[in-house]
Amino acid sequence: MSHKNLPPAWNRVKKHAVFPEAKHDEIARYNFLANLNRYLATVISPGNKIAYEKRVRPNFQNEYGRDFQNREEVHEAMKQDQHYQTWSALRRCAMEMRQQAGRSMVLRQANELAQKAQVLNQGKDTLKLNPDLEIPHYIQAVDHHCMPGSYYTEIIKEDVTAAANYDSGLFVTTAGLLGRMNDGGGRAIAQWLKNEFPEFQPKRILDIGCGLGHNVIPIAQAYPNAEVIAIDVAAPMLRYGHARAQDLGIKNVNFMQLDGANTGFANESFDWIQTTMFLHETSSKALYKIMAEIYRMLAFGGLTLHIEQPQYTKEMDLYEQFIRDWDAYYNNEPFWSKMHDMDVKEILLQTGFQYNEFIQIGVKAVNDIPEGQTIDEAVEDYGRSPIWNVFGAWKN
Ligand SMILES: C[S@@+](CC[C@H](N)C(=O)[O-])C[C@H]1O[C@@H](n2cnc3c(N)ncnc32)[C@H](O)[C@@H]1O
Repeated sequence: MSHKNLPPAWNRVKKHAVFPEAKHDEIARYNFLANLNRYLATVISPGNKIAYEKRVRPNFQNEYGRDFQNREEVHEAMKQDQHYQTWSALRRCAMEMRQQAGRSMVLRQANELAQKAQVLNQGKDTLKLNPDLEIPHYIQAVDHHCMPGSYYTEIIKEDVTAAANYDSGLFVTTAGLLGRMNDGGGRAIAQWLKNEFPEFQPKRILDIGCGLGHNVIPIAQAYPNAEVIAIDVAAPMLRYGHARAQDLGIKNVNFMQLDGANTGFANESFDWIQTTMFLHETSSKALYKIMAEIYRMLAFGGLTLHIEQPQYTKEMDLYEQFIRDWDAYYNNEPFWSKMHDMDVKEILLQTGFQYNEFIQIGVKAVNDIPEGQTIDEAVEDYGRSPIWNVFGAWKN
């Protein structure tokens, strides 16, 4: 592997007051896993394409007298191939090891992390939790991307460990491609909106499924006069996210524990409603409800935008659809496949938006890895690369 393909060292992650403390061996584990991920993406994964072209596809054509018709057929056939089996098993193991590395690191300091967050959160009215909120079944039923207990589980009082694990390990899973604050998506969308629509000055912004706020913070920074509301169902993400925002000096974001499908906010009360890497983790039933709720909450002249991995379209090659679908089968992403199959324009039309107000653009994460660190942004790691599809609509 050439040095150009090496991921940046984990110590490039920007630390803040609630960031977990990492010991020498924990850092070494994270660095090993980032490198393993990069090695799998650059050296082993291209062999899948060769296996497909040279063995799997010709064998299928010989046996059935026709080509593949859909990605499910490709998956069934590729599953039998030893190269794919090896890559897939290694990728799954890398994810399990990454979760184990992060989880063990944050569990040993669970009480200290909770205390650090409490100090920053105490007495602030910008964090509103609701212990009675029902966590949607589709969230409770899954340990998302092999994350033990997913986003919402609490094992001690005032727990923030789920968020601390997510925050410290995302840099590893994405091999640094989202930037030092893992906020490349939010930075890219804010930059795009400011460039394209400089006259658009949203006064109230809502971010649904904000997690620990990686991508809503740059939006709040780009529009410092706006009141930003960041909602999530998971209390650990909100506690940690609010404390992190306080430490970063961000004052215009309110973190609230709410379900995006039923927020209770007034009709037409937001100018911009954003989701980032969120929709693929909702059930399709919830997704329709959330979209209807967005239309209801959005003011006329307002905008909704959604950052996601690319949709599977008729134009997308079947091999690419198949390889992008890996997460659905092997990385606890049960809604990934169905969501990326949806006609997003149709959904927006069904929930009230107008045909000619639809927006679809490609956006690449803004990356701020300091000079001197090698980073090859051309690496394609299907489902991990920060080259996104952004869709949405104006409400008029
Ligand atoms: C992949 S994370 C999103 C990350 C975040 N948007 C970012 O940019 O860093 C998905 C988040 O959506 C939250 N979530 C899932 N369903 C939700 C719902 N119906 N309402 C609000 N939040 C939800 C989860 O708790 C989780 O924190």
